[in-house]
Amino acid sequence: MDLHIEKVQESELKAKPNEAKLGFGQIFTDHMFSMKYRQGKGWYDAQITRYQKFSMDPSAMVLHYGQAIFEGLKAYRGKDDQIYLFRPRANLERMNISAERMCMATIDVDDVLQALKTLITIDKDWVPKTLGSTLYIRPAMIATEAGLGVRPAKEYLFFVILSPVGAYYPEGFNPVKIYVSDTYVRAVPGGVGHVKTAGNYAASIMAAVEAQQKGYTQVLWLDAPERRYVEEVGTMNIFFKIDGKIITPPLGGSILPGITRDSVIKLTRDWGLDVEERPIAIDEVIEANSSGHLEEVFGSGTAAVISPVGALYYQGQTITINSGKTGELSQRLFDVLQDIQYGNIPDSNGWVEAL
Ligand SMILES: Cc1ncc(COP(=O)(O)O)c(C=O)c1O
Repeated sequence: MDLHIEKVQESELKAKPNEAKLGFGQIFTDHMFSMKYRQGKGWYDAQITRYQKFSMDPSAMVLHYGQAIFEGLKAYRGKDDQIYLFRPRANLERMNISAERMCMATIDVDDVLQALKTLITIDKDWVPKTLGSTLYIRPAMIATEAGLGVRPAKEYLFFVILSPVGAYYPEGFNPVKIYVSDTYVRAVPGGVGHVKTAGNYAASIMAAVEAQQKGYTQVLWLDAPERRYVEEVGTMNIFFKIDGKIITPPLGGSILPGITRDSVIKLTRDWGLDVEERPIAIDEVIEANSSGHLEEVFGSGTAAVISPVGALYYQGQTITINSGKTGELSQRLFDVLQDIQYGNIPDSNGWVEAL
């Protein structure tokens, strides 16, 4: 890739934020990466420039037909001041799966990973120093071709922006309350639920707002055809521990193949635990809880790493899980994954890449 770099002058760099008040996705670094695509020409104009606005034709196809995909990963500052990425290739490979499903242009994973590392190296002072705070990396692609008509666009813009984000658990690791929706659905078999396209998130907002109004953090989705089987939670995959066994819904349907989900499965299998990827009905979860067999429920995702679930609301009832406390497995997974991400413990799976 022919990468053009135009750095912001030292005197024009933004002031760094207070790490205690980062929040999520509100602050962006000095630089960004972008490149353009045109059918017949391929990717061109790869550049790292000042973080800046871009202009688009009002008829740009993304604004009308929603060809938009994205990814989310993080850079972690280890104790030795080394900066690490966690399974970045998996994110870029998933982006290509999203691109193919949405009939968009695919990217060269090696080239883009190299560009991403160069971008983070330029903005490395933005990677927070506080444990739990990270630099969130958002690669995205949109259809920029001007003109109306529902078909694959012939022009795309790919870009990467960086945002320092605060610790997900500033006050400690707290179980969340989840609302099981049997009114709204997120995705349907044969649809786009298994890829990271913007429309999935737009479709999820109403249920999330209603759940939050009722005092729940996120929505647990059930399968669309039967509203019976558990799918995933907001921006996390979901795991249940019943009688010592770990159960998580299978891929291949309408859920996102989470990279944290895959890491949880590999780790727990390495620890000798029994992991089943199989359909699990919400009734089975409720029953396991009332008979005392449901030990833990937790979500997995880049943002929270592991999020213990303390309560589930379903059809007028709230069930409390593990007395509303963080389970042992949730805690162990959180600690080990975080230690791997920060380079504190050996990474026998080769998940971590230093800059
Ligand atoms: C819908 C959805 N499910 C699951 C996940 C978890 O995926 P990952 O572990 O790759 O962050 C995410 C976050 O990317 C998501 O948006």
